Amino acid sequence: MNKERIVEQFRSVETSDLFARADQVRKQYCGEAVHLRGIIEFSNYCGQNCLYCGLRQGNEKVARYRMTFDEIVLNARRAVELGIPTIVLQSGEDLFYHVDDFCRMIHEIKKFNIAITLSIGERPKEDYRKLKEAGADRYLLRFETSDEKLYARLRPGHLFSERLQCLHWLKELGYQVGSGIMVGLPGQTPESIADDILLFRSLELDMIGIGPFLPHPNTPLAGDKDVKIETVLKVIALTRIITCDAHIPATTAVGTLDAQGRQKALACGANIIMPNITPMQYRKFYEIYPDKICLSEDASTCRKCVEKMILAAGRKIGIGFGHTLKK
Ligand code: 5AD
Ligand code: SF4
Ligand code: FES
Repeated sequence: MNKERIVEQFRSVETSDLFARADQVRKQYCGEAVHLRGIIEFSNYCGQNCLYCGLRQGNEKVARYRMTFDEIVLNARRAVELGIPTIVLQSGEDLFYHVDDFCRMIHEIKKFNIAITLSIGERPKEDYRKLKEAGADRYLLRFETSDEKLYARLRPGHLFSERLQCLHWLKELGYQVGSGIMVGLPGQTPESIADDILLFRSLELDMIGIGPFLPHPNTPLAGDKDVKIETVLKVIALTRIITCDAHIPATTAVGTLDAQGRQKALACGANIIMPNITPMQYRKFYEIYPDKICLSEDASTCRKCVEKMILAAGRKIGIGFGHTLKK
């Protein structure tokens, strides 16, 4: 599909054919397995000021927390006990933790025979190298939008080219690399979304996270309106058709926008779910966007909930680590 065709499909209100085709491609390349990734949001400190994000440094209304490494290791062990073979360690860009301490923690967690995905933002290449050597398997770093002007406006002081550089380093170092975007950013166009999808393909990403932009009241973008769920689903479906074998999560943000959002995403291309396994006492403080789901459910409740969701969709729980499907 070329850019014009993607834009045309994205603009179309007729979605049933597109969604059915995406489901077919998902079936052919990924099968019926839905893999679980347990996410631990271990710190909500952030030195950045992304205009869209509730954790931005400028938001003084957030109570900030940091989990200790012992706490993180304990919760990683819990993930194994719950039958979750991959954990995603996510935080704001928090420079408090030293990379060498991180490495020691990764080393501890790898003893549980679990895959580790890091989602801790932009770092020097040397840090990425050390973390990989310590045993990290994967890294998530969304490029958010490939529209360079929009990117620079939304992430003050940062360039899109620096983001791409990080993604290239991560690939070079042998990580399985995930990236992604938000749909519905103010100023985003169908053309730029088509560029995003084509970039997913040219980067040969192992994972692609796509979620709605949900305006947060304590940010400069407060009061913006929510994107329609169909719009987000169209981007998921087109991404599945164009990238074929990338892992695509039915994101928590999609589930926040629409109570059936994750089920709908699973039916038009998604093959991953990320139950939240952050300890209960911290969940409400990791408010990237408002009204996030699962604030009062614990890890085991979310684990059971997603299992039910997967089985009800006629799918199976993925066995094993659910590593990249790319050859
Ligand atoms: N709405 C939806 N997603 C958001 N993110 C940040 N702020 C918001 C928001 N207001 C996403 C970004 C980031 C990821 C961790 O969360 O895509 O990469
Ligand atoms: Fe920080 Fe990430 Fe939020 Fe930007 S999106 S403010 S880097 S947590
Ligand atoms: Fe958390 Fe459903 S996934 S309660």
